[in-house]
Amino acid sequence: MSVISGKKVLLGITAGIAAYKTASLVRLFIKSGAEVKVIMTPASKDFITPLTLSTLSKNPVHSTFYDKEDENELWNNHVDLGLWADVMIIAPATANTLSKMTNGTCDNLLLATYLSAKCPVYFAPAMDLDMYIHPSTKTSLEKLQSFGNIMIPATSGELASGLVGEGRMAEPEDIVDFIEKDITSKLPLRGKKILMTAGPTYEAIDPVRFIGNHSSGKMGFEIAKTAANLGAEVFLVSGPSSQTVKDSLIHRIDVKSAQDMYEACHKYYADVDIAILSAAVADYRPKNVADQKIKKKDTSLTIELEPTKDILKSLGDAKKNQFLVGFALETNNEVENAKKKIKSKNLDLIVLNSLQDKGAGFAGDTNKITIIDKGFNQKSFQLKSKKEVSVDIINEIIQRINA
Ligand code: CTP
Repeated sequence: MSVISGKKVLLGITAGIAAYKTASLVRLFIKSGAEVKVIMTPASKDFITPLTLSTLSKNPVHSTFYDKEDENELWNNHVDLGLWADVMIIAPATANTLSKMTNGTCDNLLLATYLSAKCPVYFAPAMDLDMYIHPSTKTSLEKLQSFGNIMIPATSGELASGLVGEGRMAEPEDIVDFIEKDITSKLPLRGKKILMTAGPTYEAIDPVRFIGNHSSGKMGFEIAKTAANLGAEVFLVSGPSSQTVKDSLIHRIDVKSAQDMYEACHKYYADVDIAILSAAVADYRPKNVADQKIKKKDTSLTIELEPTKDILKSLGDAKKNQFLVGFALETNNEVENAKKKIKSKNLDLIVLNSLQDKGAGFAGDTNKITIIDKGFNQKSFQLKSKKEVSVDIINEIIQRINA
C-alpha cells in the first residue's frame, strides 16, 4: 500500500506547458488512494481545463477567491484549503510563481493557500533552460528550500521551446515516486521492529473444546496498522481472531494457546526495538488435555487448571534495550494495580483499561485508556474509537523512545 493512501493531496497548478501532464498526476494520486483537490492559477487554464481535473480528482477545482460563475457565489477559503491538506504539491511550478512564493506575494488563490499551508510543500519547477539557470531562479529555488519546501528537481530533455536542456518538469510517475520515498524516509518508526500480541488464547480441554475469552483482537490489530503506517515492521502474534490485515510491513503469526504465543514471542523478541502485548492471554489452562472427546456423564466434571507462563513478565525479565508495553484490564484499584504490574513485569509503559468505564474493554469498537509510564507519569484519554486509541498509544511510545 502506498504511503500516500488516505492522505489529502492539494495540487497547485501554474501556467506552464507541463500543466498538461497534471491530468496523469491527479490520476496517479487517486490510484495511490489519496484524496485530491486542485487549485489552478487563472492563467494555467489555458493549458488544461478545470473540467478534466475536476473529473479526475472527483472534486471541484478552485481558481479564484470568489467564484462568480457559481450561483451560490462561494468564497474559496484559502485557509481551509491550506489546513485541509496533508501534502501540498505545486506542479508545474513556473519561475513566476516560485519567485512570488519566496516573498509572500499572494495575488491569487494558489499563492494565498501556499502561505496558509501547514503541511509539507513540494514543488516541481518547469521552465525553459535559460530561465532555469538564471540567478534569480536559482535564488528562488534555494530560498524555498531554506523555508523547508521540498524541490522535485526538473530533468533534462527536449523543452517546449525546441531547445534541449534542464527545465522539464519531472514526469508524473517520478513525482509520485519522489513524494512517496520522501514521506517514507521521514516516518517516525521507519527502521523500527515491533513485536505485537493480539486476540485471545484458546486452551484445549479435549480435541473439540477449549477455554477462551471474548477478546476480538481489534485493539492489537489497530495498533499494528498504525505502527506500520508510521514505517515500523510489525511481527503480529495473534491468537484466534477474525481480524484481517493486509500490509507488507505486518507479518502475521497465528497461534492458539498461551504456550504457542510464548514461544512465538521469544522467537522475535531479541530482534525487536519495541514489544506491545495487548493479547488477552489465558492465565490458566487445563492440566491434562484429554486425547479423546470427553463423554457426557451424569456426575459433575472437574477440570484441574494450572497457570500458563506470563509472557509479558518473561519478556520483562529478558529485556535488553527493548521498549516494553503491557496492557492491564482492571476492575478495581486500577491505577495501583497497573503500577504494580509496571514494577513486577519490568515495563516501560502500561495501557490501562478499566471495566468501570463504559465503552472500554476488549469486545467493542471503542476504548478508554489511561497510560502510565515507568516514572508513574499518568495520562487519561477520552472514550475514542480503537483506531484513534491506537494512534494515542503509538504517539506516547514515539515520544518516549525519542526522548
Ligand atoms: N499477559 C501475558 N501472559 C499471560 C497473562 C497476561 O503476557 N499469561 C499480559 C497481557 O497481554 C497484558 C498484561 O500481561 O499485557 C496484563 O494482563 P492482565 O490480564 O491485566 O494481568 P495479569 O498479569 O494476568 O494479572 P491479573 O489477571 O491478576 O490482573
